[in-house]
Amino acid sequence: MTSTNKVALVTAAAGVGIGAAVTARLAMDGYDVVVTDVHERRCREAAEKLSAEHGRDFLAVPLDVADETAVRSAIDAVMEHHGRLDVLVNNAGWSKIEPVAEMSLATWQKCLDVDLTGTFLCTRYALPHMIDAGSGAIVNISSIAAYETSTVHGAAYSAAKAGVLALTRVTAAENGRHGIRANAITPGLIYNDFLRKIYPDEFFTGYAENQSKLGRIGQPEDVAGLVAFLASDQAGYITGETYGVSGGVHPHG
Ligand SMILES: NC(=O)c1ccc[n+]([C@@H]2O[C@H](COP(=O)([O-])OP(=O)(O)OC[C@H]3O[C@@H](n4cnc5c(N)ncnc54)[C@H](O)[C@@H]3O)[C@@H](O)[C@H]2O)c1
Repeated sequence: MTSTNKVALVTAAAGVGIGAAVTARLAMDGYDVVVTDVHERRCREAAEKLSAEHGRDFLAVPLDVADETAVRSAIDAVMEHHGRLDVLVNNAGWSKIEPVAEMSLATWQKCLDVDLTGTFLCTRYALPHMIDAGSGAIVNISSIAAYETSTVHGAAYSAAKAGVLALTRVTAAENGRHGIRANAITPGLIYNDFLRKIYPDEFFTGYAENQSKLGRIGQPEDVAGLVAFLASDQAGYITGETYGVSGGVHPHG
């Protein structure tokens, strides 16, 4: 049976940051959101929470985006359950900051695997269904780290996130004639409770006071609003683009 609502798959949707905010926003906008995350228990709990809040069922599919077999199965599960896939939000990201001169191959590889290859794999297996349908929207969460000229984010993360921007543009170029749009977002510092635990106060106050033109750091909802817009028909003539949500820290254009 094909869902009457549009269906959106969000990766890394069971955390405390952008993924969860995007999921909440798209559910509010009426999408049948497929909640995916590498953490199985939190993935199921996040879908249950959404179901309770909205009084309708949301599908949970535990998923490590770096695992090709798992990605293929997840997309199959969405098609089996909902019969359509309208929106893909590639939100999963991972990083560990090590200087290049000391970086282990394991760090480099895992970052590339999750941030870049994971985005590729989900896109790769979603696209044939979108092509069949003649429509679709893909939103990739990159980072201002893609434009890095400092030591802040580390080379692996910056390289992976820059790769996401290139992947986005080529995906857009190849698939526009199929009615599919692909865009990327480059957030600056976006608050979440996990980051709050691992970074000192100065990390947040420094960005808010010295870098952000708005005197505050971003909230996950700031990114979710742009994802919702780019996923919607209101953004029907927008593809291959990159938009910042950084409080003016990294303006482009
Ligand atoms: N928070 C920021 O300041 C910030 C800034 C720029 C870009 N970003 C990007 O935004 C995205 C979301 O980050 P966030 O900080 O809002 O956290 P988030 O809460 O949205 O994501 C964390 C979740 O990712 C999941 N995850 C980790 N590895 C995974 C994998 N291999 N497959 C599937 N799920 C996986 C974790 O289980 C966790 O639930 C990431 O791509 C990140 O690089 C974040």
